[in-house]
Amino acid sequence: MTVEAGLRIVEHDAQGIDTAFREDVLAGLSQRHKAVPARWFYDETGSQLFEDITGLPVYYPTRAETEILERHGADFAAAIGPGRAVVEFGSGSSAKTPLVLRAIQPAAYVPIDISGDFLRQSAATLAAGFPGLPVYPVEADFTKPVALPSEVADMPKLGFFPGSTIGNLVPPSAVDLLRSMRRTLGAKDHGGTMLLIGMDRLKDEATLLAAYDDPAGVTAAFNLNLLDRINRELDGDVPREAFRHLALWNDALGRIEMHLAAQRDLSFTIAGKTFAMASGETIHTENSHKYDLRSAAMLLLAAGWTPRAWHTDSAERFYVALAEATEPRTAP
Ligand code: AVI
Repeated sequence: MTVEAGLRIVEHDAQGIDTAFREDVLAGLSQRHKAVPARWFYDETGSQLFEDITGLPVYYPTRAETEILERHGADFAAAIGPGRAVVEFGSGSSAKTPLVLRAIQPAAYVPIDISGDFLRQSAATLAAGFPGLPVYPVEADFTKPVALPSEVADMPKLGFFPGSTIGNLVPPSAVDLLRSMRRTLGAKDHGGTMLLIGMDRLKDEATLLAAYDDPAGVTAAFNLNLLDRINRELDGDVPREAFRHLALWNDALGRIEMHLAAQRDLSFTIAGKTFAMASGETIHTENSHKYDLRSAAMLLLAAGWTPRAWHTDSAERFYVALAEATEPRTAP
């Protein structure tokens, strides 16, 4: 088992505050429609609550994607081949990773995640299951280009981005991220750089709403944990009990939205700045876009990834796409 020390590029100020978190929260709450980027859900508690969500009966994406990865190992082996460094973006608990690693015989595994403790724990668990496979965890914000460990510099790469996390970004940001992954993977330097990506499919509204507003209230706790994190890390006094989890389907934009809705007029202070909200006003905390085949392909193509194969589960709820980095074309 080889677990190397990760590169730490998260910036803190003299008080130990994550400056990017503070900037995003203060800027987002200063907008007319208050919003905080969904990536800030994932502190240790948020990461654990998300793992709990993935086990809920109503939350189908994890089971659907796992089914695809289990079924198509031989297809992946044939299309991807052995000897690659598998770079997983936002690895979380890395639960689906063994399915891919077992299928393709990689040369190294590089999990990238913003939640450092969680990352190191799950990297160690995974490494124990793959003796001889070098594992290089990188604690970083993968929404920006990340410097990979020098040990994998000369290996061909497979990016792995499961879970339809891409759906948490609005299309321009999703394209930016997919381009940035191309840069992280060094797509210019290595022919045949590939990406294995999960993308949740469009489906009936009732199934979608149930998945994002579960009866056990785990998704509500996940959403509300953002307020706890703000209060704890940014010296806030947001009254958590005055907010309610809200999930809605935005049909025009093809996405589930999560909000935190104020239940009364209220005000609070975060990092010395005061905000007021009227009863019913919301903080928009997450988008989860759902795709049909064309919109999924368009997103990948816009970022320089050409889809080579589409796989779906038996109930046709989810896609796993295999795409290859291709040069942008200037011809019509
Ligand atoms: C991480 N991401 C793909 C999840 C999703 O389904 O959009 C996050 C999530 N939010 C609520 N439930 C799960």
